[in-house]
Amino acid sequence: MPVSFAASVPDDTSALILPIRKGDSPDAVTKALPEDAAAALKRAAEASRFEGDLGAIVEIFADTHAGTRRILLVGIGKQPDAESLQKAGGAAVAKLLTSGETTLIFDASGSDVDDAGSNMAFGALQRSWRLDSYHTKTPEKNKPSVTDITVIAEDEAAGWERFQAIYAGIALARELVTEPPNVIHPQGFVERCRPLAELGVEIEVLDKDEMTELGMGALLGVAQGSAAEPKLLVMRWDGTDGAQEKPVAFVGKGVTFDTGGISLKPGPGMEDMKFDMGGAAAVAGAMRALAGRKAKAHVVGVCGLVENMPGSNAQRPSDIVTTMDGQTVEVLNTDAEGRLVLCDAMHWVQQKYAPEVLVDLATLTGAMIIALGHEHAGCFSNDDGLADQLLAAGKTSGDAVWRMPIGKAYDKLIDSPIADIKNVGPREAGSITAAQFLHRFVQDGVKWAHLDIAGTVWIKSASKLWDKGATGYGVRLLDRFIADNHEG
Ligand code: BES
Ligand code: MN
Ligand code: ZN
Repeated sequence: MPVSFAASVPDDTSALILPIRKGDSPDAVTKALPEDAAAALKRAAEASRFEGDLGAIVEIFADTHAGTRRILLVGIGKQPDAESLQKAGGAAVAKLLTSGETTLIFDASGSDVDDAGSNMAFGALQRSWRLDSYHTKTPEKNKPSVTDITVIAEDEAAGWERFQAIYAGIALARELVTEPPNVIHPQGFVERCRPLAELGVEIEVLDKDEMTELGMGALLGVAQGSAAEPKLLVMRWDGTDGAQEKPVAFVGKGVTFDTGGISLKPGPGMEDMKFDMGGAAAVAGAMRALAGRKAKAHVVGVCGLVENMPGSNAQRPSDIVTTMDGQTVEVLNTDAEGRLVLCDAMHWVQQKYAPEVLVDLATLTGAMIIALGHEHAGCFSNDDGLADQLLAAGKTSGDAVWRMPIGKAYDKLIDSPIADIKNVGPREAGSITAAQFLHRFVQDGVKWAHLDIAGTVWIKSASKLWDKGATGYGVRLLDRFIADNHEG
């Protein structure tokens, strides 16, 4: 959806959206309106007990000299920040998306939040994203009517490119997560990411033979039950002209469908496991965002792409596999496959790029959802500084993160009697033992964080920034993390 910038509200009948701080009188934002319209809006606010709570809306139709225009007050809460403005923009677009209005005008010129108008438009884009390509019979009245957004803040125009790039990353991540698993299999995932090359991202794809050659027995063990060939997708963006030699590494779990394998999952709800590549999608989306805004950083994103199926050649519970770094793993539960994919991808990126910082993202455990619900991703780290950076990026970006513990006592729980490690611990602390598994593949001196995003990638209720379904979680977070810590 095109977003344009103007110095003042155009004199036409497009819907006009005015953000207002909680507790402020409507007079604070309606000065530029004709007197009748301002009075009607004030009366509507009072009559509907509107107080400016974040996302609350009052709507009127008022006559202006260009004709009758729809005017909305949208609350931005008491202490608005960038995220509040995004949410207000999202709430407004959610209300108007199929209203028949075609152009929305966001006039945040009265706000003191940085990039207030851009944040509203950014939120509106996020909330209006949808995948419509499989609907062949949508009735006309259910189709989105909004086609354009105008922001009243000419001085923000130059900065818009950055928001647009991050949005494009979020949209890519959501697309990858939402598309069905018969389309986004490992090869399909790779194809959707190839266009990143046009932005200057270097793309490398390792196929099954190359991974066999490298000895990625854990990743390949997961893939062997499926007819779909596994891929290791590597995307590298260097916005430093070689000045930053070692890249920051992101690694994503890309299980394009997780049936559980021979440790088969129950049927009801299994469809959710199309989003088991949400970590890989976040990595791809982040690379799209960073390259799109020409971030002055060196970043490599690796996606371990496999399908976990119970085929005749599928691995069995009790199989022992050898990982690329030489450790042996007793596979007691073929449904604990994410860690098997990640350990080889993590080892590979450390061997090839010697990163000092490694962040992995994965829809790794159902236990993470039990612990944190859908509000935060869990962060497990061997470095307090890195964890703090991620928590801070979570706060400012809106992709919230909560720190979880790791430690020796948990690590012991995954010692195997017959191999170096077993791929599952007891039921207790399931998210932590999963993190301990990954920790065993982190090389000395590497600052590592694991983000378990099982609860945040896909949410069954709509919010101010997304419709029910894929959230694009991780893109805003990783983008902010790089901007705050790895750009000169
Ligand atoms: N992909 C799942 C985790 C998951 C479950 C993510 C539900 C989102 C929603 C993962 O591969 C898995 O199956 N984990 C098992 C681990 C267990 C076998 C130790 C789990 O969480 O039950
Ligand atoms: Mn699984
Ligand atoms: Zn899984």
